[in-house]
Amino acid sequence: MKKNIVEHKYSVSREDRTRKNQHQSMVIWFTGLSGSGKSTIANSLEKRLFKEGISTYSLDGDNIRSGLSKGLSFSREDRHENNRRIAEVAKLFVDAGIVTIGAFISPLKEDREQAKDIIGKENFVEVFVNTPLEVCEERDVKGFYKKARQGEIKNFTGISAPYEAPENPDIKINTEEESAEEAVERLYEFLQQKLKFD
Ligand code: PPS
Repeated sequence: MKKNIVEHKYSVSREDRTRKNQHQSMVIWFTGLSGSGKSTIANSLEKRLFKEGISTYSLDGDNIRSGLSKGLSFSREDRHENNRRIAEVAKLFVDAGIVTIGAFISPLKEDREQAKDIIGKENFVEVFVNTPLEVCEERDVKGFYKKARQGEIKNFTGISAPYEAPENPDIKINTEEESAEEAVERLYEFLQQKLKFD
């Protein structure tokens, strides 16, 4: 309920910031299983964009959960709330003229759709890091899959909680078929047109 809330209008607009930066702002939202490589690719993409003079910022699941979403669990409701908060923050970053790169499991289609609605679909690029569960589990970088199989971690995505793969992502990365460098280059090419400001 919007009780006693009056929106302020500020003189410096998103357009002003865009003109200053000489590029469009947007959110590049990586989704994929734990250990799929989404944070690694997101990180390389930010480095690539930053090198080209683009104003960037990265938001990451683990980091957000130790601050903005501290205390939220991995239940369906809390993941929904986590993804909602991230989307609201990312929306502010877009208004600030920044290319925001986010890496979150964001396992449910409904929650990703919600993020897209909050941020605005014209500002939203969905990247699906399509690494099969067997590969993520084999890698088990953090040892979480083993713990999840042993029942030590509840609601673990892919093991005891669902992951709904995006049906129509803007970009799909098959990490078994292309290297992280190739994926970043492909993403960079894809973003060229979208970043253009005239
Ligand atoms: S979500 O589903 O979008 O709210 O998840 P996210 O905020 O991206 O957080 C994912 C990271 O949390 C760690 N972790 C878990 N992941 C999945 N399921 C369970 N139960 C869980 N518990 C802890 C894990 O390190 C995830 O990081 P990544 O980088 O994806 O491996």
